[in-house]
Amino acid sequence: MVALGTASSAAIIKPILDKIFIEKNEEMLYLLPLGIIILYTIKASGAFMQVYFSSYIGQDIVRRLRDRIVDTILSFEMGFFHEFRSGELISRSMNDIERVRQVVSATLPVMSREFLTILALLGYVFYLDPQMALLSIIFIPLTAKPISMIAKKMKKFSHTSQERTSDLTARLSEIFNNIEVIKASAAEQYESKRFEKENQQIFDVNIKATKTGELVSPLMEIIGSLGVALVIIYGGKEVINGDMSVGSFFSFLTALFMLYTPVKRVSNLYNKMQDAIAASERIFSILNRKSKIEGGTIIREGDINKIEFKAVDLDYSDKKTLQNIAFSIKKGDTLALVGNSGSGKSSIVNLLLRFYDTSKGEILFNKESIKNYTLDSIRDSISIVTQRVYIFNDTIAQNVAYGKVVDEKKVVESLKSANAWDFVKNMPQGINTTINEFGTNLSGGQRQRLAIARAIYRDPKIFIFDEATSALDTQSEQKITDALKKISKDKITIIIAHRLKTIEHANEILDLKDGKISCKGNKSELMKHCIDFKQLNGLQK
Ligand SMILES: Nc1ncnc2c1ncn2[C@@H]1O[C@H](COP(=O)(O)OP(=O)(O)O)[C@@H](O)[C@H]1O
Ligand SMILES: [Mg+2]
Repeated sequence: MVALGTASSAAIIKPILDKIFIEKNEEMLYLLPLGIIILYTIKASGAFMQVYFSSYIGQDIVRRLRDRIVDTILSFEMGFFHEFRSGELISRSMNDIERVRQVVSATLPVMSREFLTILALLGYVFYLDPQMALLSIIFIPLTAKPISMIAKKMKKFSHTSQERTSDLTARLSEIFNNIEVIKASAAEQYESKRFEKENQQIFDVNIKATKTGELVSPLMEIIGSLGVALVIIYGGKEVINGDMSVGSFFSFLTALFMLYTPVKRVSNLYNKMQDAIAASERIFSILNRKSKIEGGTIIREGDINKIEFKAVDLDYSDKKTLQNIAFSIKKGDTLALVGNSGSGKSSIVNLLLRFYDTSKGEILFNKESIKNYTLDSIRDSISIVTQRVYIFNDTIAQNVAYGKVVDEKKVVESLKSANAWDFVKNMPQGINTTINEFGTNLSGGQRQRLAIARAIYRDPKIFIFDEATSALDTQSEQKITDALKKISKDKITIIIAHRLKTIEHANEILDLKDGKISCKGNKSELMKHCIDFKQLNGLQK
């Protein structure tokens, strides 16, 4: 449309001159200006639509890719998130996709336009003088090798640049997440220096890429001048001999000069595309990855009467962590896990949630291997509270009901059971008070109690408390323990704790040491004959 508009605005000059000024046609005096307005309207809307649609396509690709990449990443197993830093993943979902978009909406339209121009001009020079045209492009094949080498280098640089950008994003998110430690250690200078160094590295690689990429223009120009030189010699001779008119010679030469600009542009853009290719390789390495942990097909429903661990081993990557773990818990019972830190208590919980899979052995719910259940239905049956509390930037009610529909009455009940109602009740808007992401307008103990309320709200079949009450004072801990006893009558409870008082009512206690069960039994049994357990308690008194 744009091209057509440009061409017709040139074509319209002829009737303007002929009809209005020479034939003095008055009707035309009004018709033609109208024609011009229409013509320009068409041309302008064509230009508008071209920009609009190429931008639309680019943005649409970004949106879809971003949705897919986040959806895919969310489906990955926990191990993946320990392997990749969050900044790296953010960079892939933001920066890499943006690089692809730039090429799609900026490069591709230009590329196709320039390509058409090249074809048209080539057609013209071949039409003028096929032999001379052939001479003028005889050197073009010479550029193929260096251009492809440059493109290869550009792709490598792009890869490096993208990796460094990821590292930098990762560093940034680390800085902001650990700002308390950084400030408390007076390490601002240290972090800032470290950042500068990594930032400089990105700069260096981008400059190198520019240097390499810009080699294309001089290369094309030098090779181009060889072609022009040949044409002048050959064409000049023909003109002197009278085989060719001066007019057609110059016309040919002009077309030839016009040809080198789009050719140069296309080869330059080809380089830019390497960046998008490198970025899309990184994107697709994620999109094509499958989660290492996949659920089964059975939807788990109803009560869980028994959990059974059958000779379970767990290796993280290749690190042996749990060995020969065997135990069972019945509905209504409480199991306590004790042992030094690093002994493997949380790892047992990781297995139950299928954050990781057993390397050997089996875990059964009601005699069915948990691998046969869908992941969602297993995790829906379990509430877990850990030492690390996750608070979302939302109201207290939303935080308690996280992922479920808010039922205000149930929210208040859960808060009461978690011994949190006292402080929530006094907040400006009660359960509708907004708390911020890091829960900084709450104390550590208050956040902990909110997390416990969240666990209670879900009304699960299995409660897991992984050192959940360690941050609380003994009195609050006792209150929560009592409340839990009431609501966990028909459930299975697993408690990991250090205070003997918190676990003394457990039906069974597993004492773990170096990933193995060293003793098993209730409190009085362990007190009698488990040296490790006695040691643990001895330390507390
Ligand atoms: N996600 C993980 N990846 C690799 N190693 C881990 C992971 N989680 C824990 N470990 C290792 O497994 C061992 C047991 O850890 P954990 O079960 O957290 O102990 P506990 O909860 O008893 O303190 C530790 O040596 C720890 O470093
Ligand atoms: Mg732990």
